[in-house]
Amino acid sequence: MRIGVLTAGGDAPGLNAAIRAIGEMALRDGHEIIGIANGWAGLAQEYAGAPLDASQLRGVVGQGGTLLGTARFDLDRPAGGRERVLSAIDEHLDALIAIGGDGTQEISQWLAERGAPVVGVPKTLDNDLPGTNYCIGFDSAISVVAESLDRLHTTAASHHRVMVIETMGRTTGWVAALGGLAGGADLILIPEFPMAMSDVLEHVKQRHRAGIGYSIVVVAEGVDLSTLGGVETGELSSDAVGGGRLATRGVGQFVASQIEAGGEFEVRTTVLGHLQRGGSPTAYDRIWATRVGAGAYEAVVAGKSGTIPVVRDNHVTLVPLSEVTPGQRQVPRELYDLCAVFF
Ligand code: F6P
Repeated sequence: MRIGVLTAGGDAPGLNAAIRAIGEMALRDGHEIIGIANGWAGLAQEYAGAPLDASQLRGVVGQGGTLLGTARFDLDRPAGGRERVLSAIDEHLDALIAIGGDGTQEISQWLAERGAPVVGVPKTLDNDLPGTNYCIGFDSAISVVAESLDRLHTTAASHHRVMVIETMGRTTGWVAALGGLAGGADLILIPEFPMAMSDVLEHVKQRHRAGIGYSIVVVAEGVDLSTLGGVETGELSSDAVGGGRLATRGVGQFVASQIEAGGEFEVRTTVLGHLQRGGSPTAYDRIWATRVGAGAYEAVVAGKSGTIPVVRDNHVTLVPLSEVTPGQRQVPRELYDLCAVFF
């Protein structure tokens, strides 16, 4: 078989581990593995597939990013991109493995419904894909958040300051909640459970009254500004697929300015940004990316198009793509309540 593999959307640590698993297993079994450069663009524009050999897969398990390149490429604007992808698969490949988040898997499903032999792999450091407990990149991202909070703790305590840390995560709060839990955050604001600014201030003051001279406040980039008493300043600058770039709203800076306006605290803001996406994957991401990559390869050779390997109860399970495409998986109340035990 000629098995194509692509990575689409934002990069994430662990992608190379998945590509390596798919590629090594395919080569072991005598198949051809075709790396498609730059996500869907490599099929919708000029065909950008090239065979991968063992040397290109060697030594990559610990490397961040994606050896294939990726892109946020809109197949619908202008219209016709999806049809060009269908034709390219038909012309060049016997199967395609698409590694990506919700946008990518919606396209995989669309293609599979039209008869293309496509299998997905779950990737998003936002961790918001429904139907799976694991998405490539999330563990590495929260490890960066936790380590950053460790570092910010020492300087916050030394200067008796409030540190506000803004994390990625788009419209859900997984990165903020679990990164904050691991890093000992004193308050975590996420879109799922809005908090009024007066409660944020009161919480920081109450810590002060209790003799704790500093606070670490983690804010997810997607928190609704209006619940904090702010105003959305109109149009967001958008990425290439029309998604609003939430970091440009400056929600962390807004929270910091409101705390500082009270006049009682010295406040500093850190926006972790793309540091959460860069660098080496954690061992956890390397292992599970390998496992879901292997699951996708096995699905392809078994002819199970329209599926995606997900992680449930610590096992890789193959499910229809339709189980991961509807909406976003949100942080559940009980998990947030556990984070709040430590506020
Ligand atoms: O979806 C992953 C993610 O890292 C989000 O958390 C973030 O809002 C967005 O991508 C940033 O995208 P870009 O790299 O295009 O700025």
